[in-house]
Amino acid sequence: MAKIKLSMPNLGNARSRLEKNTPTYHYVINKEYNDLGKDKTYFIYTYGCQGNEADSEVIAGILEDIGYTRASEGTEADLVILNTCAIRENAENRIWGVLGNLKGVKAKRKDMLIAICGCMPQEENATNKLLSSYPFVDIIFGTHNIYDLPKLLYEAREKEAKVIEVISTEGGIYEGAPKHRENKYKAWVNIMFGCDEFCTYCIVPYTRGKERSRAKDDIINEVKDLVAKGYKEVTLLGQNVNAYGKDLGTDYTFGDLLYDLDKTGIARIRFTTSHPKDLDLKTIYAMRDCASVMPQLHLPVQSGDDYILKKMNRKYTHQEYLDKVNILKKEIPGISLTTDIIVGFPNETEEEFVNTLKLVDEVKFEGAFTFIYSRREGTPAAKMEDSITEEEKHARLDRLNVLVDKYYLEGNKRFEGKVVKVLVDGISKNNKDNLCGYSEHLKLVHFPSKDLSLIGKIVNVKIIEGKTWFALGELVNE
Ligand code: SAH
Ligand code: SF4
Ligand code: F3S
Repeated sequence: MAKIKLSMPNLGNARSRLEKNTPTYHYVINKEYNDLGKDKTYFIYTYGCQGNEADSEVIAGILEDIGYTRASEGTEADLVILNTCAIRENAENRIWGVLGNLKGVKAKRKDMLIAICGCMPQEENATNKLLSSYPFVDIIFGTHNIYDLPKLLYEAREKEAKVIEVISTEGGIYEGAPKHRENKYKAWVNIMFGCDEFCTYCIVPYTRGKERSRAKDDIINEVKDLVAKGYKEVTLLGQNVNAYGKDLGTDYTFGDLLYDLDKTGIARIRFTTSHPKDLDLKTIYAMRDCASVMPQLHLPVQSGDDYILKKMNRKYTHQEYLDKVNILKKEIPGISLTTDIIVGFPNETEEEFVNTLKLVDEVKFEGAFTFIYSRREGTPAAKMEDSITEEEKHARLDRLNVLVDKYYLEGNKRFEGKVVKVLVDGISKNNKDNLCGYSEHLKLVHFPSKDLSLIGKIVNVKIIEGKTWFALGELVNE
């Protein structure tokens, strides 16, 4: 099969941060591609973070714009897209596994197109492996190339060629692209793209490019439009939302954006992810003052040890983190704090690990994503000496999880006997007689009801029992 290499990734180039301003483009569909998907179906498998989920909604929107309809299963689709994640080795291994399965499907359905996108193709190692070991993949495109998808499909289809387009350094902002939102009441809203933090363990600044903020009016108008369509909740997305606006050269900050979005009439605003270094008083005051900004914050700490934090390039100390937590707890009484923690960073000692346990005890996080450090080729930490055994890393993860679970449970128990407001998502997975949804503090709540008209509404639920991962309650009329 012919190969069209429009561009290949380069992690070295991906590190560079050019000083030029980010261009904003308006999405337009080239007429040539108008009915490329006529009578054809697509299916997208999405892995990784909310950023990828939001991207998949744009990809689906673009595909539907050119005539594709959604297939009910990946194995039946004419076009299968894998939107991938590169954050840890096990995330990538999952993708290699899925690709292995798709090989068999494609062998039976020769005219099926397989495309792979997201963060993995941004790594040259992964793209080279895709080219050498997975020849049945038709299209490889990067995180900056989503909007070129119709062109790539056209090339792959018309020229019967394998198409690779992964750029590493650029990446503008596209406004006006169609989106197929997966939820009718809760929406992702990107406020910025990329990351300039370069935490030493992390691949994201390389796979997502430089930090680029959307213009505030574009964000505000998107939220107003969602309110008009009946949406109840938005989650503002960025790798470091507290850096919002820094690249725009104005003094309008994330806190200002929260105050402005509160005025749109949206019932609930959440955001992720916050960087402790950039979390400022204005943001905290907006959380305190704006009824729509939910009393819950995901504030990844990564480690509780000053030396490890320095080696991670996180730019704050254990005490500085605690100081911010104390302000948050004072200004927003009852706030629910959650975090991300990495154990087994290269050469982490027992004492350094214990400092992380100490911090968990001090903050009492009501939830945490905990990870074993995974070496990412091309990042500075990948070159650091690491003499800790896998066994020790797993043992630390287990010890950490025991502590985290204790506070998870306490976080749900503290609502027992209280009435909380729940935005109803749908029928509970494990009990068809229950509905479920999330409270303002982002607690998963199940309650007996078969009234499907409650889906998408905010209802009052009295919590009867807090469990580790969820709470059980009953509807109250208040
Ligand atoms: N931008 C966000 C989160 C990005 S990735 C932030 O800065 O908090 C989500 C989480 O994955 C990170 O918070 C971190 O805990 C974890 N992570 C990132 N790189 C990792 C690696 N190489 N090994 C293990 N965990 C990692
Ligand atoms: Fe990765 Fe750090 Fe950026 Fe988060 S802030 S995406 S952990 S480099
Ligand atoms: Fe994964 Fe890329 Fe998100 S590496 S976590 S999908 S930014």
